[in-house]
Amino acid sequence: MSDWYRDFANSGVGATITKNLGLPRPAVLRRYEPGEPLLPGPVVVGSAGEGRLRLQVTDLLVDAGVTVSAPATGEDDGERSGAVVLDATGLTGPADLAAAHAFLAPAVRRLRASGRVLVLADPPADATSPAQAAARQALEGLVRSVAKELRDGSTANLLLVPAGAEPALASPLRFFLSGRSAYVDGQVVTLSATELTTAEDVDRPLAGKIAVVTGAARGIGAAIARVLARDGAHVVAVDVPAAGQSLAEVANEVGGTALQLDITAADAGTRLVDHLRERHGGVDVVVHNAGITRDKLLVNMDAARWDAVMAVNLQAQLDLTAALLAADGVLRPGARVVSVSSQSGIAGNRGQTNYAASKAGIIGMVRAWAPEFAARGTTINAVAPGFIVTEMTASMPLGTREVGSRVNSLQQGGLPVDVAETIAWLAQPGSGGVNGQVVRVCGQSLLGA
Ligand SMILES: NC(=O)c1ccc[n+]([C@@H]2O[C@H](COP(=O)([O-])OP(=O)(O)OC[C@H]3O[C@@H](n4cnc5c(N)ncnc54)[C@H](O)[C@@H]3O)[C@@H](O)[C@H]2O)c1
Repeated sequence: MSDWYRDFANSGVGATITKNLGLPRPAVLRRYEPGEPLLPGPVVVGSAGEGRLRLQVTDLLVDAGVTVSAPATGEDDGERSGAVVLDATGLTGPADLAAAHAFLAPAVRRLRASGRVLVLADPPADATSPAQAAARQALEGLVRSVAKELRDGSTANLLLVPAGAEPALASPLRFFLSGRSAYVDGQVVTLSATELTTAEDVDRPLAGKIAVVTGAARGIGAAIARVLARDGAHVVAVDVPAAGQSLAEVANEVGGTALQLDITAADAGTRLVDHLRERHGGVDVVVHNAGITRDKLLVNMDAARWDAVMAVNLQAQLDLTAALLAADGVLRPGARVVSVSSQSGIAGNRGQTNYAASKAGIIGMVRAWAPEFAARGTTINAVAPGFIVTEMTASMPLGTREVGSRVNSLQQGGLPVDVAETIAWLAQPGSGGVNGQVVRVCGQSLLGA
């Protein structure tokens, strides 16, 4: 499942050929390795507007062992940086954006390969005037465009930090700068006000946690199980009995437990709750990953295809989550629920009315449940993968696969581990300020917003 074109374009002769032909050269992305420094170089931190987060960001970065450098001056050829963080909080109107441009242009020019641009801002929805809302919203266009201009595996993302959400900053700051966010590009995440200040073991943030992963026997689910276990969780790996053999192998590999369960069964919620209560005393992380496709054009779609996809991809998530919420004490304080949606649920996809409807439904579900989860001190979020290289995509015709995997800013498909890393980040105790969000893991795909 290696990316033959990326490997060729980065080989000695391949680099020359692709350069001479003007062909794209997808980068080898920087991915997270436990124990490695957060970034391969210093971070340049600057502000536009009042910049109320700048000192906090600098302190957090220093605590994370990162060198913080002053903004570049003029055209000097200073050290190349691993990341650029712009604190754009406190903008009052469009005129303030000039400072953002003045800071970013020289800083981005000095960015290393697989560098990170992160812009922190106030949510447009909280603005007190149209001019202020305009300036805040303008940053989204700026960041999404920078993301499209960056090369060599670098990414740009926007983090909206409303007043009161400052204690939640550490976890997303670390995620967006780290290799965990390798395939998250051109995204906007809004934090919520929270009191959380959890200091955690950054290499094993899920130590002592119990995590359920549905559809864990293979593909993205198996990758999620591996990453959650690597981060310290005991994983309860769930899949249908027919996948029992591979499920057992994944559970053994990660030192977890296998639970054979068809999540669409009438008693699935009861069985899951009973298992978690009896064997583990509750659950901290629930990842709704199991999903199926039954593609047909709408006009040819029979009821069986429609019903099967809705049952697995949407209704089961609603029912299992409701069962966990209703079971007193099973969903532990600080619990995290993460649902796997899809780019199809945002952009739509030919032949996938059933699948796209189910995956869009996930987004509606997560947003509607977020206030109740917040009131309980827990969170619910969705990740929406784009083109992810799996056994399924490997069997696509070459042309379809090549087009599908290249139409994004990173010019390559993502890996199951990229989806897993994003889910593991949302599952962290320190991610309590991220709630009701939909995080795309799509390399800034050209499909959909
Ligand atoms: N592969 C991609 O590019 C991609 C893109 C966007 C979203 N997704 C989503 O990511 C998730 C994982 O996708 P994947 O590519 O790894 O799929 P996959 O088919 O390789 O794995 C899905 C797993 O879910 C299990 N499953 C199916 N029905 C079940 C049921 N009723 N009860 C319990 N388990 C059940 C299957 O047995 C399988 O092990 C899905 O929700 C999918 O829609 C995938």
